[in-house]
Amino acid sequence: MTDMQRKISRRELLKNTTAAGLATATAFVPMHPAIAQQAKVKIGLLLPYTGTYAALGHNITDAMKLGLAEAGNRLGGREFELVQLDSEADPAKAAANTNKLIVGAKVDFLSGPVHSGVAMAMAKIAREEGTITIISNAGANAVTREMCGPNIFRTSFSNWQVCFPMGTEMARRGLKRVVSVTWNYAAGKEMIGAFREGFEKGGGAVLKEILVPFPNVEFQANLTEIASLKPDAVFAFFAGAGAVKFVKDYAEAGLKARIPLYGAGFLTDGTLRAQGSAAEGVFTTLHYADGLKAPANTRFREAFKKATGRDADVYAVQGYDTAQLLIGAMAKVKGDSGATKALIGAMEQARFDSPRGQWHFSKSHNPVQDVYLREVRNGDNAVIGVAQKAVSDPGTGCGTA
Ligand code: PHB
Repeated sequence: MTDMQRKISRRELLKNTTAAGLATATAFVPMHPAIAQQAKVKIGLLLPYTGTYAALGHNITDAMKLGLAEAGNRLGGREFELVQLDSEADPAKAAANTNKLIVGAKVDFLSGPVHSGVAMAMAKIAREEGTITIISNAGANAVTREMCGPNIFRTSFSNWQVCFPMGTEMARRGLKRVVSVTWNYAAGKEMIGAFREGFEKGGGAVLKEILVPFPNVEFQANLTEIASLKPDAVFAFFAGAGAVKFVKDYAEAGLKARIPLYGAGFLTDGTLRAQGSAAEGVFTTLHYADGLKAPANTRFREAFKKATGRDADVYAVQGYDTAQLLIGAMAKVKGDSGATKALIGAMEQARFDSPRGQWHFSKSHNPVQDVYLREVRNGDNAVIGVAQKAVSDPGTGCGTA
């Protein structure tokens, strides 16, 4: 069976199951290329608009809209339409949702998600279908390692990439015995795994890895356990509403004064207002920080605030960069969204001024980027150093880095 035959038979198979909710799923008539040029470019967004990650999905979407508006709301001269679908950060619904967008709505491009479990299902189908997909948050390592594909790009980070540098940094600081705590799913496990790799390399030891069911936010039993283990420090990954609750509970339990809290930057990104003084002094690593001095960051933060009334965060930056990638590539092919090879080539070569600083894609389509060391000071994620410069995910299994 050729690739094309496989694709068509999959489409036939899926038509009946996915057409239901989407009117466009029925009469599929192949368009003449000239006509296709006239139609709106469709971009499918599979993002969480409800639940613990809702704020993340909204910031990604609104920053994409901002970037697209700044480009005159055209992609390579063509009008476009965003087809938004709530992922509910639910991996069990991810395959059906991806099919709704690719097979049902027949999107030209696919973007999202936030949750690593959703990303695994989404990337698998997108790879089979050949739809150009830009992952705008989820850090699942496999997506740019063993599951990598020519049409799969990631503008955010890999879970390994943001946490390995914190392991080495904490060892450098002389910390010896650490407890890690996170949600029990792919992203959490990969993040504490990468932290552990860096920390052990530097001579540290992880006393215990505490896994909390996703998306639970009842942390009391875990905090009691941490107190009894008396580690030198704690390393945590939570995000969104869960991060707000964890950081507040940690401080309220009286642990912050005794056991310093470290984490992946998501622990304090987009959350600081809600966390208040509980977040002061928390150390994190991330590929972005609010206070980065680059002109592109200042300009972006002002524009995002003006457009939404909210402060930008790492998720907004990733959405904005996703839009820049699309805008640049579609300009190169003069709006021919069917020119898959040329679009992929343009994306691989992409260079633009991101609010996070310059980055470029590795051969496995993950950003090569600086990872900053941040400390929450006066309600801000202040940059106190670069934990590791130009970090490239190992790209294991993709055959390249
Ligand atoms: C993920 O599931 O990959 C994930 C979710 C939220 C974050 C970071 C990573 O803030």
